[in-house]
Amino acid sequence: MTFASKTHLPQMLPAEAYTSCDHFSRESASLFQDAWHCVAQTNDVNKEGSFKTLQLLGHPLILWRTQGEIRCYLNVCSHRHCLLTGKSDGTMPLLKCQYHGWEYDREGDTKRIPDAKSFRPLAPGVLGLRRYHVELVGQLVFVSLATKPTSLDEQLGGQRSYLEDLFSDRWAPLLTVAQEVDANWKVLAENVLEGYHLEEVHKNTFKKFAPAKACHHELFERVTTYTEESLEENRRIQQQADFFARLMDVKAEHEYHHIFCYPNLAASRMTLFNWVQTILPVAPGKSVNYWQIFQLRGHSRTPWARFAAAIIGRHGRKFFKEAMREDGVVMPGVQAGMAAEDQPSGGLISAREERIFHFQQFVLQKMRQSGSGVREHEETPILSSSCEGGCHVSE
Ligand code: FES
Ligand SMILES: [Fe+2]
Repeated sequence: MTFASKTHLPQMLPAEAYTSCDHFSRESASLFQDAWHCVAQTNDVNKEGSFKTLQLLGHPLILWRTQGEIRCYLNVCSHRHCLLTGKSDGTMPLLKCQYHGWEYDREGDTKRIPDAKSFRPLAPGVLGLRRYHVELVGQLVFVSLATKPTSLDEQLGGQRSYLEDLFSDRWAPLLTVAQEVDANWKVLAENVLEGYHLEEVHKNTFKKFAPAKACHHELFERVTTYTEESLEENRRIQQQADFFARLMDVKAEHEYHHIFCYPNLAASRMTLFNWVQTILPVAPGKSVNYWQIFQLRGHSRTPWARFAAAIIGRHGRKFFKEAMREDGVVMPGVQAGMAAEDQPSGGLISAREERIFHFQQFVLQKMRQSGSGVREHEETPILSSSCEGGCHVSE
């Protein structure tokens, strides 16, 4: 077992950090506005002129492929502020507003204004679309709302090349889900930072959590990772994966790997699938879990390989939808508990869940740096390892 901590740890954030509007807006300013957010994949806008619209932190955005490049604009017209389009995706040779037909070029400048003379005098270059920074990491599309965003390399904490490889063309897009959850964004983040809930919540999917001896955490400044060795008791599942991988002419890797890059990006790789999750705050008690799931693309193009890919795809879609549903049921319960007038204690984080402690420290630190502190728990709920107060540690 390689947990950093030998003991359990205190919950660092008070309940109001999950419920208060004031905390939510300060957190949004100090953690999210300058950051990069993985909101799409290259496949979403794969043809020249294709677009996709989305919401990011209250901003309606449009991603548009132009001259082979993916660009991002505010999906709001500079004439009288109508959304350029209300469609979720489609194709436009020039960005055109649905209301009075103003057209914009790839720089976001106005290209054609119907009956332009009625707008005279109109100084050139004054009107145009607001543009945002876009960067690609493998097939993943990152957007930042900041004029001068933090460097994406820095935000990914040295894991950019790992993610580039993880989301390279060797993986085929399988499933994208924008899952709305009635819970604070940190509830969603903390939920994926621990596997301790697997046995209770994921009865139809993951079923069991691994014994501590198979789990390894690494904690860095902006990133934490979790690796789970392949387990003897999962041998039957591994053999099935090996069988399908052989049909597709690829090698199956059995080690499970999970990474979380602060503030809101998780990515993971299983034997035949990987996924990336972007957690987007909407309101103190509302978030979107934006999932993009990929499946391993084999080298072989034989009918057997295509058959194997189809079976894997069908199984993967079913598995991940069910896993999301299972989590989606319990997270509002966490939020409701956080919103209660009182809690039984300050809360407790086990060594197994220590990535949550690290995450909470990161949140506190960023808020302090931005001059907007958080009231930490008044009581220090660390129990001694003799576990007074009815706590029982079984590992
Ligand atoms: S609001 Fe867009 S053209 Fe009028
Ligand atoms: Fe879960």
